[in-house]
Amino acid sequence: MKKRAITLTINGEEYSLNVPVHHTLLQVLRDHLNLTDVKYGCGRGECGACTVLLDVGKGKRKPILACIALAATMDGKSITTAAGLSKDGTLHPVQKAFVDESAIQCGFCTPGMVLKSVSILEKNSKPTEEEIRFGLEGNICRCTGYAKIVTAVQAASKKMAAGKR
Ligand code: FES
Ligand code: FES
Repeated sequence: MKKRAITLTINGEEYSLNVPVHHTLLQVLRDHLNLTDVKYGCGRGECGACTVLLDVGKGKRKPILACIALAATMDGKSITTAAGLSKDGTLHPVQKAFVDESAIQCGFCTPGMVLKSVSILEKNSKPTEEEIRFGLEGNICRCTGYAKIVTAVQAASKKMAAGKR
């Protein structure tokens, strides 16, 4: 099996890995590193459960789907998963809002949904309801009906504007 040596930074921690060239980033995160907060849903880029944030430089991050990204192409990249959002035991405002607004039921979509919401707010700190719904378009939730998720993102936006965690 052909392998490639890569270095990945995940949630601030650097990992040196020897990955099969055909393995996805999701396989590496879950199966090689046991980072199971990144979820396997459809495995083909349709549900958003495997969303992670990729550092694109200058303090900016963009959501990518780990199930359709080859790990071998990620050498030198820096990634944030939902587990990397909290700081010193304090939840990120978006995580807290999801809990406070009961925007979680089974929780399977939640890590991806939270990361996508963080990226929406990093680009636009005061999104309208329509912009939130549009931003979350690729993330499927089977349980909540989305209304509480939208409310949670709005609540997080207000807290972040007020400088609260
Ligand atoms: S598991 Fe990646 S989009 Fe569904
Ligand atoms: S909370 Fe169950 S899929 Fe979203």
